[in-house]
Amino acid sequence: MLSIALPTGRVLSEAQDLLASLGLPTAKLRKAGRSLVVQDGNCHYLLAKPMDVPLYAHYGIADLALVGSDVLAESASSLIELADTGRGRCRLVVAGPQALDSRFWGHESAIMGLRVATKYPRIADSHFASRGAQVRIISLNGSIELAPLLDLSDCILDIVQTGTTLEANGLVVLDEVAPVSLRLVASRRSAQLRWQEIAPLLEKLDAIREETL
Ligand code: PRP
Repeated sequence: MLSIALPTGRVLSEAQDLLASLGLPTAKLRKAGRSLVVQDGNCHYLLAKPMDVPLYAHYGIADLALVGSDVLAESASSLIELADTGRGRCRLVVAGPQALDSRFWGHESAIMGLRVATKYPRIADSHFASRGAQVRIISLNGSIELAPLLDLSDCILDIVQTGTTLEANGLVVLDEVAPVSLRLVASRRSAQLRWQEIAPLLEKLDAIREETL
């Protein structure tokens, strides 16, 4: 019996499709509704907020977890990344009003002191530090695009997938931070203890990726 932590929200259906393609049961998972723990065949699924998923693997409650590389980077966890699934692709970007665009292409002094709203304060800090700019980070939990609209911030650092939310709020991409995809992770302990069950999944994942290349 494997326990697997999964992120709720927009990537859940992609995670379910991936699990199904690995031959894991998903019929009950797909009908979970508001249930947060689902027993489906030989799998025990735990459904958590994306930012909390690494914790369930870290504390050994889940043997495995599917987690976005954005969340992994922000949590700075010591989990082992077993595979990049290639699913759940999106981008971490800095976005804001078009008027700010030229400042991102000039000297770092032009972006010094910007107010950046984000739910990724650690990534934002390191991204702007790598550009040599000190900024003011405003930590929010969601609907980040609201911040520059109401002058709570100058720009945002957030994920963009289709670009619909940015466009609907009159914002544009100013800077690329990193590509994002779902990663299969485990704690060091789980990887050792459950390797016999984990290894065949990694082999299937490799085979699927080769088929799609
Ligand atoms: C995420 C992200 C953006 C949006 C981007 O929010 O924070 O707001 O999706 O997606 P798009 O490019 O396809 O429009 P999410 O819907 O996960 O909710 P949140 O704002 O509560 O974090």
